[in-house]
Amino acid sequence: MKRLWRQSLPSRPELFDFRGVSMTHFFTDNWENVQNFKARPDDVLIATYPKAGTTWVSYILDLLYFGQTSPERQTSVPIYERVPFLELIVPKFVPDQVERLPTSPRLIKTHFPVQFVPKSFWEQNCKIIYVARNAKDNMVSYFHFDSMAMIEPDPGDWNNYFQRFMQGKVVTGSWYDHVNGWWKKKQTSPNVHYMFYEDLVEDTGREIDKLCSFLGLSPSEDERKRITGGVQFDKMKKNNMTNYSTHARMDFKTGSFMRKGRVGDWKNHFTVAQNEEFDEDYKKKMKDPTLQLRTDL
Ligand code: PPS
Repeated sequence: MKRLWRQSLPSRPELFDFRGVSMTHFFTDNWENVQNFKARPDDVLIATYPKAGTTWVSYILDLLYFGQTSPERQTSVPIYERVPFLELIVPKFVPDQVERLPTSPRLIKTHFPVQFVPKSFWEQNCKIIYVARNAKDNMVSYFHFDSMAMIEPDPGDWNNYFQRFMQGKVVTGSWYDHVNGWWKKKQTSPNVHYMFYEDLVEDTGREIDKLCSFLGLSPSEDERKRITGGVQFDKMKKNNMTNYSTHARMDFKTGSFMRKGRVGDWKNHFTVAQNEEFDEDYKKKMKDPTLQLRTDL
């Protein structure tokens, strides 16, 4: 299957404007089908801007729901198949992965901005977990990912990428619109749980407790401890089922999916001038004082 995928994909896709959001065809080719997706009431949607902690939260949820009942999943099915990507369509590579999910509930990943989420998720009152990560670390992580993920447009050099990120000229569009759009939605939707990557780094156990209370789950104390320990960065980095090492479209010679997993790595990338320019621009775009993201712990 990997071989087929390799043969059938063009090298790097072009970015274009799609309904006001920068996208590539891998995320829009299946638009009609995705918009008509029939969510089930117990589906759980994990929504993020790319590189905000999707895989981390996906793995936590998979362990919470299926760690006890289907332990074989943990050693045989990569996380990107356990929690498939709603809008991604790649020729000849397992189409309709979400439809084929054998689990109940189905755990589904999306990078859609809130206005693109298929309406059935709202109609069915599905639980939705949104993860936000501070823009500076998010940008750095995305830059490194785009360098190694052949499914992404060429990131170019860091200076160029820095400008494009601020302009929203990366796949899934503006980080600012994404986190603000979901934050606004959360204010009126009790089914949206909004969490922060930085909080997960600070106290994973506490954030798992919040997730459990949102989802109505009550793992035993032993189970909770096992999950909290098992989802730490070093463990996930070594685990071939969570580190994407089995994924065909990533060039592991240029980087790794589980790269650093830290808050504040942006300081190793931003110049002083870039930081000033970024902060100035940030103030103009992030007007809501109730949405605060930490760039440091
Ligand atoms: S994707 O491609 O959008 O699904 O990527 P995503 O999973 O959202 O984000 C990848 C970044 O999350 C980091 N990560 C973690 N950090 C801390 N602890 C754990 N357990 C963990 N798991 C994943 C991963 O390392 C990427 O961040 P960077 O900063 O690049 O290391």
